[in-house]
Amino acid sequence: MTRIFDDDLDSRFGTRAIHAGQRPEPLAGAIMTPVYLTSTYVQDGLGRHKGYEYARSANPTREALERNVAALEGAHYGFAFASGTACVDSIMKLFEAGDHIICGENVYGGTFRLFDKLLRHLGLSFTYVDTRDPERIADACGPRTRAILVETPTNPLMWITDLAAASEIAHRAGALLIVDNTFATPFFQRPFDLGADVVFHSTTKYLNGHSDMVGGMALLRDDALAERLQFIQNAAGAVPGPFDCWLALRGTKTLHLRMPRHDANGRQVAAWLADRLGADRVIYPGLSSHPQHALACSQMRGFGGMITVDLGTKDRAARVLERTRIFSLAESLGGVESLISHPASMTHASVPPERRAQLGITEGLVRFSCGVEDIDDLLEDLEQAFEGM
Ligand SMILES: Cc1ncc(COP(=O)(O)O)c(C=O)c1O
Repeated sequence: MTRIFDDDLDSRFGTRAIHAGQRPEPLAGAIMTPVYLTSTYVQDGLGRHKGYEYARSANPTREALERNVAALEGAHYGFAFASGTACVDSIMKLFEAGDHIICGENVYGGTFRLFDKLLRHLGLSFTYVDTRDPERIADACGPRTRAILVETPTNPLMWITDLAAASEIAHRAGALLIVDNTFATPFFQRPFDLGADVVFHSTTKYLNGHSDMVGGMALLRDDALAERLQFIQNAAGAVPGPFDCWLALRGTKTLHLRMPRHDANGRQVAAWLADRLGADRVIYPGLSSHPQHALACSQMRGFGGMITVDLGTKDRAARVLERTRIFSLAESLGGVESLISHPASMTHASVPPERRAQLGITEGLVRFSCGVEDIDDLLEDLEQAFEGM
């Protein structure tokens, strides 16, 4: 099981991003962790090996990434998976038929699909609640509640969950608090410091940051829980390949440089949109008009580059989605390049229409992922896309 090096938590965030979890390679001293492209490892004799037997169980490139992200989150253990979704699936294998999970009602559509279309049929039960209100979380707890899973901020409505309150409720109920920290990243939000038990990411997004791989990562502090997840990682085998791990590891080295720029661009784009459309149509936790702005300020150090706007109708949304040039129309988020998307037909298409309507994921919603380009080019792009609207 991959545990951070003893000195990984000694340094500050930017130094950890570059160095944590990595040692110069022993053969030549390569400063960069090699891509260990191997499925197996030669053994010295029966039962005598260097700690590596088969690459599903362990791979040195993967371990470097696992330690690195664990250190960034302030965790002790990291487990890499083939996607963010595979990561959630493996985390859910910590539970058994009959167990009850409370889940935020506005999680990523693929997380909802996994729970509702697959895991529910295997005997796990799920209650979806508006986790913006801690009382609703508490009310949903029952004798078989084993976990509370929240995404904060949520995709795409940017709802915020009070993590300290949620962890208190979870622990009172004897349950785990599981946090999807994909949108905020450990640079802006530290769920373990607020009581989380498991933190996970789609590394596909900000952690990798360059839109060139798909991956997931679960981070833990607790030894016994980590042992169980290690067993699941090996037994279920949803592991990433070493090259994807290497790409993600290269990405995390600049996380502390990229996030302030995503945040600065996000704030300016949100302000421009609020000015143009009215603040009530722009959902960004960094705007004082966001209903949970104060909570966001208290548990986040910044707000990042994700913004959602309500343009009222699908036609108006389509006009903007098709007219932007630098903001490319595409799924996903968190890369250096700016993207624009339509949650109702893209990321949240797997959520039934009536449920989307109930949550407020309307046909007029457009989601922006602000990259790290020059802000004046981004604003000019928006200016021409919104012309005449
Ligand atoms: C917040 C969030 N969590 C999890 C996922 C799933 O990650 P992946 O696409 O790597 O499976 C996504 C994907 O968009 C996401 O936005």
